[in-house]
Amino acid sequence: ALERTLSIIKPDAVAKNAIGAILSRFEGAGLKIVAAKMKHLSRAEAEGFYAVHRERPFFGALVEFMISGPVMIQALEGEGAVLRNRELMGATDPKKADKGTIRADFADSIDANAVHGSDSAENAAIEIAYFFAATELCPR
Ligand code: CMP
Repeated sequence: ALERTLSIIKPDAVAKNAIGAILSRFEGAGLKIVAAKMKHLSRAEAEGFYAVHRERPFFGALVEFMISGPVMIQALEGEGAVLRNRELMGATDPKKADKGTIRADFADSIDANAVHGSDSAENAAIEIAYFFAATELCPR
């Protein structure tokens, strides 16, 4: 099915000047960028975005990392976009990520892991709406 997913290029990958390389992987795999913005998240924005992880032991470190520098946020559209993006990203822990995936090539640790991607179509809708107004999405 034609889906959308929310993708974030995290502060570590932005600091490495890897925005273009990572966006190229999405486009090269047939995912279309239908919305994009660069933003330095506030603490409240990062905490709200990751609210489902609030009770996890890594929550504090995750929020600190996500506000440590600007991020690049995009909505991606394509056939099976949620799974396709997860395949491109590789495992959450870069040590476990398959060769050739974004995390294998750009991530340093499970915290500084280069990218975020929605884990389901349901969460994708919630996550896209968190960062983009409906009028900011450009179907194509
Ligand atoms: P992300 O897909 O952005 O979702 C939550 C983030 O928490 C995850 O990527 C990791 O960067 C970070 N994280 C840190 N430790 C863990 C862990 N043990 N399990 C899952 N995510 C973790």
